[in-house]
Amino acid sequence: MPILSLRNLSKRFGRNVVLRDVSLEIETGKTLVVLGPSGTGKSVLLKHIVGLLKPDRGEVWFEGQRIDNIKERDLAVVRENFGFLFQMGALFDSLTNLENVAFPLKEHTTLSAVEIAAKAQDCLAMVGLPEAGPKMPGEMSGGQRKRIALARAIAMGPKVILYDEPTTGLDPIRSDVINELILRLQAKLGVTSIVVTHDMNSAFKVADRIVMLHGGVLHFDGTAETIKQSTDPIVQRFIAGEAGDDELAWMKKA
Ligand SMILES: Nc1ncnc2c1ncn2[C@@H]1O[C@H](COP(=O)(O)OP(=O)(O)O)[C@@H](O)[C@H]1O
Ligand SMILES: [Mg+2]
Repeated sequence: MPILSLRNLSKRFGRNVVLRDVSLEIETGKTLVVLGPSGTGKSVLLKHIVGLLKPDRGEVWFEGQRIDNIKERDLAVVRENFGFLFQMGALFDSLTNLENVAFPLKEHTTLSAVEIAAKAQDCLAMVGLPEAGPKMPGEMSGGQRKRIALARAIAMGPKVILYDEPTTGLDPIRSDVINELILRLQAKLGVTSIVVTHDMNSAFKVADRIVMLHGGVLHFDGTAETIKQSTDPIVQRFIAGEAGDDELAWMKKA
């Protein structure tokens, strides 16, 4: 049984059709990479998985339970299975790093303060920042802040981690640290990972499976090997980072 299943998801905002009948089964314990240019609906797709957006049509299933139509209170319980690393990695600037990581534990568990601090410290160690606890997010670099946010995302022991463009804005070395962390968390925690990115290096490094969202549909579904060999022009241009006629039409007009 897949851990997650998206069935015929459709979503539009006014006249902007973002998802058209998207179906996807996500295998337990594997890393799925979702590729696609900016504005194609990658974040929208992730938000449907955690119930932050509701589909116009279609269903979302988690571990055999339909979750797109359940009450907010039940959804809150299901959400504890998901760790979400948001695109803007929002940490609370007025809390220390340790307090940031401890936050979901305080909100959602009955653990004692001592247990919570110990758990948060373990999560910081897991992302390679065991000494960052007492510092403030503002004292950390961009890459370190992503890792603190990741420590917070794993604090509740999620079964699924969703990464929304985890390497965007980071230099190649810092990006690779994040890639290694994605691999490490999969190996150590046995989590299922969904990584949204347009960073091909990252995709090739972490993916068990790669899908590409384009024009509201899954335009490609395969592996790092098969995407490299794809002869589809849209896929090829995306991998090579080349602009096509669609992207350059404005230049001809100008
Ligand atoms: N809450 C919203 N209301 C209206 N439009 C939205 C909303 N969220 C996303 N969109 C639109 O949906 C499209 C896909 O957005 P998004 O999923 O953020 O793209 P990306 O692939 O870059 O993550 C964009 O055109 C965006 O403007
Ligand atoms: Mg996005």
